[in-house]
Amino acid sequence: MAIGFDVAGGGRLVGRLRVPGDKSISHRAIMLGALAEGTTRVSGFLEGADAISTMNVFRALGVAIEGPHEGRVAVHGVGLHGLRAAAGPLDCGNAGTAMRLLMGLLAGQRFGSVLIGDESLSRRPMRRVAEPLSRMGARIATSPSGTPPVRIEPSGGLRGIDYPMTVASAQVKSAILLAGLYAEGETAVTEPAPTRDHTERMLAGFGVSVLRDGARVALRGGQALRATSLDVPADISSAAFFLVGASIAPGSDVVLEHVGMNPTRTGIIDILRLMGADIAVLDPREVGGEPVADLRVRGAALRGIEVPPALVPLAIDEFPALFVAAACAQGRTVVTGAEELRVKESDRIAAMADGLAAVGLPVQPTADGMIVEGRGGEALPFAGGTVESLGDHRIAMAMAIAALRSRAPIRVRDTGNVATSFPGFTALAAAAGLGIAQVDLA
Ligand code: S3P
Repeated sequence: MAIGFDVAGGGRLVGRLRVPGDKSISHRAIMLGALAEGTTRVSGFLEGADAISTMNVFRALGVAIEGPHEGRVAVHGVGLHGLRAAAGPLDCGNAGTAMRLLMGLLAGQRFGSVLIGDESLSRRPMRRVAEPLSRMGARIATSPSGTPPVRIEPSGGLRGIDYPMTVASAQVKSAILLAGLYAEGETAVTEPAPTRDHTERMLAGFGVSVLRDGARVALRGGQALRATSLDVPADISSAAFFLVGASIAPGSDVVLEHVGMNPTRTGIIDILRLMGADIAVLDPREVGGEPVADLRVRGAALRGIEVPPALVPLAIDEFPALFVAAACAQGRTVVTGAEELRVKESDRIAAMADGLAAVGLPVQPTADGMIVEGRGGEALPFAGGTVESLGDHRIAMAMAIAALRSRAPIRVRDTGNVATSFPGFTALAAAAGLGIAQVDLA
């Protein structure tokens, strides 16, 4: 049976909250831990379906992994050349990060692999990774339309490339760097705009020498990884729903604990502050190579802005929530340069335009963004109604948060995939004051 959310209109958010571990870092912790020599111990691991998919893939590739237990995982690394062929296809579930990074990591193995995913992942573009890997000598094929399944034949040896990326994508960058571990000579990528750098930071934490020179990142193949311990910060992409929710709901006062503050991820804070949000960064510190802080956010009168395109890749997963903030701001918000939103777990431009219209606030979707005439002047700009999440976790959570400024309840359909990135969202949001209940829907 499909599940959904029924969310009462109005309210505010208060309290101290810790959202689950960072999804990007959790995937990488399993991957690099598996390739390392020795046992890597992870705490704060995201016990969400996406990270569990990655864990199960590595178990199928012969890696012993203990956990997760209360966010703790132990990965018994098999070394760079210790993975074994899996007995069947490797199921990445809903996780684009798992599939794309695995393409790079598996391209240089002496055995073949087949990567599959769920309905949403089976529609997503994979050529952006397969094409540079082929240039490195990988024998890798997608379906004729460039989507999964991805078939990888045993490698006869990869060679390094110096690749100018066409899309600002951390997944593409990471896949090439992981393949580079298995390639002859140096492998380098040049980014068209800065994207999240967790792979580079974590490789360095495992003892791999990674060279950055401006927009270019390079490593030499054949370097061994040494096991380490990792503390995964809370996911700023999950915190984003509370940053927006507390900002739009007058009287809110929330502290989000231990949030990852990697500068390649904090675009959401910069954008909300440009809109007039009241966000204080408390006790900034560094945990295992990643910056972390507590964030205090209080309700504020937001205003519409033109979102600087340079901030888009630094907030790429936060646009569903940001569109809700824009709808609750006074004046017009214009988002451009965000065409990547069309190839996420859903077409997030279309999904959010439809969702906002369904609750009485029509917006103008564009090819690469959105124009939102905010209704911040109204106490309760949303009228309530039923929204389709299209099985996209971030659409579901963004539209649930919108209820804080709704005259009537909002029902969100098909919310099962919220568990991919944010297990426990309903309970945590309810504890903070959102009138949310999970319901069974036919
Ligand atoms: C991710 C990179 C981003 C992001 C995704 C996670 C990662 O995708 O949207 O949720 O962990 O590298 P792109 O790099 O394709 O933009």
